[in-house]
Amino acid sequence: MLNTDVNKTLRDEFNEIIEPYINHPKFQKLKHEIHHGITRFEHSIRVAWYTFLWAKRKGLDYVAATVTGLCHDFFIEEDCEHLTTLEVNKVHGTIAAKNAQKHFSINELVYDGIANHMYPFTDKPSSPEGVIVQYVDKIVAAYEFFISYNPVSIAYKKAAQMFPEPDYTQTLDNEVGPTLSLKRR
Ligand SMILES: [Fe+2]
Ligand SMILES: [Fe+2]
Repeated sequence: MLNTDVNKTLRDEFNEIIEPYINHPKFQKLKHEIHHGITRFEHSIRVAWYTFLWAKRKGLDYVAATVTGLCHDFFIEEDCEHLTTLEVNKVHGTIAAKNAQKHFSINELVYDGIANHMYPFTDKPSSPEGVIVQYVDKIVAAYEFFISYNPVSIAYKKAAQMFPEPDYTQTLDNEVGPTLSLKRR
């Protein structure tokens, strides 16, 4: 099997696991929550993806691990309105675990992994799947922080705000190419 086929099979399997969760309206709200300079939606999917790969390779319960990674930051600003930044660091895992328990059907292993992903701010995750999530989260967060807050990215974002790039992603109605009227000199 070619490498690209393997990747596609893995992606398909991963998508099948995460789809029911990411389509939930509360999860969709993470698309509007900024986290390490990107959205919490994007961060959650990245953490879930690398957790999925790592847990699968180790022969662990990779479905539970993936759901743990996906939901580890499953909270929105309103859930933490009354908390200081330090308190958010300590308790957002528990808030996310409670949200996941409320909106999805999760087992104790997943609950524990989500609630304790901020170790050493919290207790140690009690399963190897949870341990993987807390490592992946820290590595991914460091990477996202680096890509978002280095001088080049900051300058680029400023420029993009001043001069937004044209959006070519929409389908054009007119399939006929543009005609340039060239003036002869
Ligand atoms: Fe977190
Ligand atoms: Fe996180």
